[in-house]
Formats: sequence, structure tokens, C-alpha cells
Amino acid sequence: MKKSDFQTIVKNPIQRATRYQEMVGTYFDLVTDSYRQHWGESFHFAIFSSSEPLKDALNNTERFIADSGQFCSGMKILDVGCGVAGPAINIAAYSGAHVTGININAQQLEIANRRVKEHGLSDKIELVLADAMQMPFENESFDAVYIFEAGCHMPNKANFYQECALVLRPGGVFVGTDWFTAEDLTTEQKTKYIEPICRYHAVPNIISLGDLKKCLVSAGLTVEVVENIENHGNILRNWELMDTRIAQNIRGLIPWLLPSTLKMLTKGGYALLDGVKSGTFMIGHWRARKPV
Ligand SMILES: C[S@@+](CC[C@H](N)C(=O)[O-])C[C@H]1O[C@@H](n2cnc3c(N)ncnc32)[C@H](O)[C@@H]1O
Repeated sequence: MKKSDFQTIVKNPIQRATRYQEMVGTYFDLVTDSYRQHWGESFHFAIFSSSEPLKDALNNTERFIADSGQFCSGMKILDVGCGVAGPAINIAAYSGAHVTGININAQQLEIANRRVKEHGLSDKIELVLADAMQMPFENESFDAVYIFEAGCHMPNKANFYQECALVLRPGGVFVGTDWFTAEDLTTEQKTKYIEPICRYHAVPNIISLGDLKKCLVSAGLTVEVVENIENHGNILRNWELMDTRIAQNIRGLIPWLLPSTLKMLTKGGYALLDGVKSGTFMIGHWRARKPV
């Protein structure tokens, strides 16, 4: 896709939803190398318990989700929007479960496949190139489904959570962390804080935790937990780290001469910081179960 087309799509909320496949594909083609270089192999925010390095905090956050879902050997688990398999590799090794990762981005899956082989986990992890809005799996084929910050990229959240619920077996658990807004934002707050986050991260729209709860219930799931992830540790450290890394990245560079991807990432980082500082944006955690 031409960069000018990508820019046209991300600026327009309607096009972000209708053309999400090409938008998300292009966005992750552009940013994957930078994400890996500056954040690591897991593309999500972390729960910090003290001053541990980011890598450890990411690792522990993934273990927290594995524990939240009681993942264990013998289970068949789906990782929705699996990135370069950072979480899948950690979770398969930690829990002993078999993980299937689904991702719409071919470039990330190529890297993911290589990384899975390097970790000697080819018998524990399978990777599938597909759109999670139309899951290519039989109904009720997984014991658990988890997500790290991929639901925000889906254009229709109700349909997306319905897809996740369909592939879950009765009694199966659905857990994850993702991007959410505070409740009852004014139009002005949405325009000032949420729209820039969506635009610079190729996110069609972001819903609130209250709306997540409604989506889970209407997908037929029993909600066990829906909360701000801050309940489990220090989240602020992510924004401090991001702030420092953005500053390091652009130090010495003339703002209007920044490469366009770096410009987008920098603006995206500041948009997240503004969202968090204004209390309009947060990372949420949920656990829901399919009734038996
Ligand atoms: C923020 S990254 C998180 C990646 C991974 N969960 C992690 O934490 O490392 C979002 C991921 O969702 C994937 N994704 C976005 N929309 C998707 C869709 N419709 N179907 C499948 N994957 C999708 C992206 O390609 C990307 O890998």
C-alpha cells in the first residue's frame, strides 16, 4: 500500500474500520522492526512489581495471564494477534500448554516461526496467518483463548468477542489485556485524547471496560473479572520508559526531518502518554468463561 493511502485511512475513523485489514497489515509492516528494537519481542505493556527490567516485567505479565487462565499441560490455547510470538513462546514454555497463534501480518508470522524453531517449541506452538474477525477454526476447539493488546485493532468489538467465544469449548476461559477508554468520555475528550491514539496506532476504535463487559455477556460468556490492570502493579513505569525511549530516539534529530515511521511512533507514544495522564485511557484485564 502507498504511504499516502495509509495516511488517508488512519486519519478517517470510518476508513479505519472498513479498511482495517490493509491498514493493520501496513502498520505492522512499518513498525515491527522498531518495536523489536526498542521494546522487545512482546508488543504489549507490562505490569511492574518494582524496578525490574522491562523484559522481566513483560515475562511476568504473560505469566500473570497464564495463571489467571490456569493454563497447564494438555490444554489447547489460542493466542489472538500473536505478534512475533513473544507471549506464545513464554506461555507455552511456562504452562506446558499447546498454543496456536493467529496473526493477520505475514511478516510478523515469518519472524514468529523462526523464533519458535530457535526456542525448540515447534511441537508446542502452531502459527496461522488469518483474520481473527473471521476465525478459521472449528467452533469449541480451544480450552482457552488469550489476547495481549490485539482486540483494539478489531473494527467491530462485539463481533470480534463473539468470534473468540465461538472457538472456546464450554467451560473454557477467555483472558487478556487490552486498550480501553474511561467511561462516559465527552466528545471533546474523545477527539483530544482517544482519536490521536487510534490514528497513530492503526486502531479503528477503542471501547470502555463497561462496553467490554457488555460484549462479553452478549457473546454468551460469564464475566469473572473486568478491571484496570493497575490493580496488579505499577503501570506508570511503561509510560516513563516509553517517554525515555522516545526522547533517546529523536535526540539530535530535527523534528521535521524525522523518518515518517519514527514520526508516527513518536506521536503515538505521546498520544498514549497524554491519554494516561488525562485519565481517559487505560490498560484493562478481563477473565470470562463459557458456561458449561
Ligand atoms: C499490539 S500487537 C500485540 C502482539 C502480541 N499479542 C504481543 O503482545 O506481542 C497486535 C497484534 O495483533 C495482530 N492483529 C491485528 N489485527 C488482527 C486481525 N484482524 N487478525 C489477526 N491478527 C491481528 C497484529 O498483526 C499484531 O500482531
